Amino acid sequence: MKTDRKLRLGVNIDHVATVRNARGSAYPEPLRAARLAEQAGADGITAHLREDRRHISDEDIDGLVNALSVPLNFEMAATREMQAIALRHKPHAVCIVPEKREERTTEGGLEVAREENRLAHFIAPLREAGCRVSIFIAAERAQVEAAHRIGAEVIELHTGAYCDAHSEGRINDRDAELERLGEMAALANDLGLEVHAGHGLTYDTVRPIAAMPQVMELNIGHFLIGEAIFLGLGPAIVEMRRLMDEARE
Ligand code: PXP
Repeated sequence: MKTDRKLRLGVNIDHVATVRNARGSAYPEPLRAARLAEQAGADGITAHLREDRRHISDEDIDGLVNALSVPLNFEMAATREMQAIALRHKPHAVCIVPEKREERTTEGGLEVAREENRLAHFIAPLREAGCRVSIFIAAERAQVEAAHRIGAEVIELHTGAYCDAHSEGRINDRDAELERLGEMAALANDLGLEVHAGHGLTYDTVRPIAAMPQVMELNIGHFLIGEAIFLGLGPAIVEMRRLMDEARE
């Protein structure tokens, strides 16, 4: 087991860019949101540069790399284009996610087990450049073990199925998902992987995930940006942090 048990919060600012791009305007600025998130206690900022640039742009990444004082977690698909961008910026962390043009959001985890060889070669230069490489996967043994074999340092467990089951009132499914997430967090930790989690988390769903002792970081975006409409971004983040800390105790 690792000794540092502090749970970090990475705030994903993609959907600040979604709102900006809805009007093709210059505002709201993702960088301003990132600065506010830092002040409110975010331990890191997460941004996903998608192939179709539907929210975060290349200029946003340039700005974040230059201006942030907390670590940037750069989410990207396993493509040559994204690899070149990551190698140019060398962000603190790179999270490899699956990406389909037609999806509304990142719907599933990466099929590491099916693409082991390609992914091992893909992440090697990123690791050599000093980026912490994280692999976004479903809570499945085959994926955790494959992520370990390809040389990733971190896995991020996809919490979307758990959150969907919760919001749809499928209690048995929700509990089964939680059990699976807990088991895979423990397995990954035993293998020496650092465990992160995220996708779809809200004030209602964050606690059981935050309470898992192996989970070291949560990445949360859509809910916080939505909640910012009502509370303001700073207070929305402060409340999430409070719930995480409470669950951790
Ligand atoms: N983690 C990963 C790897 C993601 O792809 C996303 C969504 O971009 C998130 C966390 C955050 O998910 P949400 O916006 O639903 O909180």
